[in-house]
Amino acid sequence: MKKVLKIFGILLGIVVVLIVAGVAFVMFSFPNAEPAPDLTIEASPELIAHGEYLTNNVSLCFVCHSEINRDLFAEPIVSGTEGQGRDFFGNNSNFPGRLFARNITPAGIGEWSDGEVFRAITAGIAKDGEPLFPIMPYTSYRHMSSDDVKAIIAYLRTLPAKEGESRKSELNFPLNLVARMIPKPYEEQTKPAASDSIAYGKYLTRIAACHSCHTQHDSQGNPVPGNEFAGGEPFPEKAGIIRSANITPDPETGIGNWSKDYFIERFKTYQKPEMQEIPMREGLNPTVMPWYAFSGMTEDDLGAIYDYLRTVPAVSKRIEKFTPADEK
Ligand code: HEC
Ligand code: HEC
Repeated sequence: MKKVLKIFGILLGIVVVLIVAGVAFVMFSFPNAEPAPDLTIEASPELIAHGEYLTNNVSLCFVCHSEINRDLFAEPIVSGTEGQGRDFFGNNSNFPGRLFARNITPAGIGEWSDGEVFRAITAGIAKDGEPLFPIMPYTSYRHMSSDDVKAIIAYLRTLPAKEGESRKSELNFPLNLVARMIPKPYEEQTKPAASDSIAYGKYLTRIAACHSCHTQHDSQGNPVPGNEFAGGEPFPEKAGIIRSANITPDPETGIGNWSKDYFIERFKTYQKPEMQEIPMREGLNPTVMPWYAFSGMTEDDLGAIYDYLRTVPAVSKRIEKFTPADEK
């Protein structure tokens, strides 16, 4: 018996040593980061205007880095808070830790070099070299051309400096370790010409994070194979769990029956004041889909996204979009 206990003790010791070594390895070897690139952005009015469009209507930085009005279905950004950041989930979820989408106005990142902001957006590394949690969609933004990233930075520099969220996020184990392993250095991306509608639409679905919200991920944050754009990714909200829609061309469970005009109209309708003012009320599911911010996308860009989505494999997968909190 004693001998068995002794062997067990030794084995337990080995396991503990392995775990400690594993944690130490991840802490010291990751994140996989390069020094921030050495760059100075020459801001022209055209570059700033392009950055304004990408920031507000395509890559939607302010949907997370501002206060949003959760009393309205369209969850619009509270005017005047653009870029000042927020306590990301507030007390609205069971997220294991606290996440702060910090201030990205000049009061927050004014001291960061252009290269440091560039690295945060495309490689998920903050100024201090620490990894950003991938809810900050750098895994989508790493598909952006450097010119588009520069346009966004040029625009952010023009925002009025506002006091805002400056608290540091805290992640519980093991999320803090997982988050260290996801960053990787940015590689230059080519932006397809707008005339190459399908390739350009694919580019937009990456930098607008359609792909990341509409594809289900496993517990390690990797897309589940065969599920591209087939929806089902869960978003836990106070009212219950929302799941993203199947936007593959499957006619029954996806958007195969949608015409291009109807697709564009589904977004554009949120430009109407009456759509923006629909109150959240009992019986109405919240939507995590940032309809309102995307409604400012040009019809050409929405059309290119539609053209690309027609070409992805149709996946037959029926999504239950909402499970109320009391049933989960
Ligand atoms: C889906 C939500 C979301 C979107 C969209 C988003 N961010 Fe973030 N961002 C976050 C969160 C959350 C953090 C904090 C991550 C952490 O602390 O680990 C963050 C962190 C950052 C940081 C680091 C700030 C600091 O003080 O360390 C920068 C810079 C940044 N984001 C810029 C942007 C830009 C530019 C865009 C648009 C191109 C953008 N973000 C879009 C959620 C988002
Ligand atoms: C932050 C996550 C998120 C992002 C980013 C996102 N979606 Fe969604 N989307 C959702 C969720 C959740 C739903 C389901 C709720 C709803 O329909 O309002 C949805 C619904 C939709 C629908 C409605 C489908 C139906 O059957 O009614 C379409 C179309 C759509 N998204 C297309 C897109 C496109 C195109 C993009 C990129 C430009 C995109 N989404 C980006 C989360 C997201």
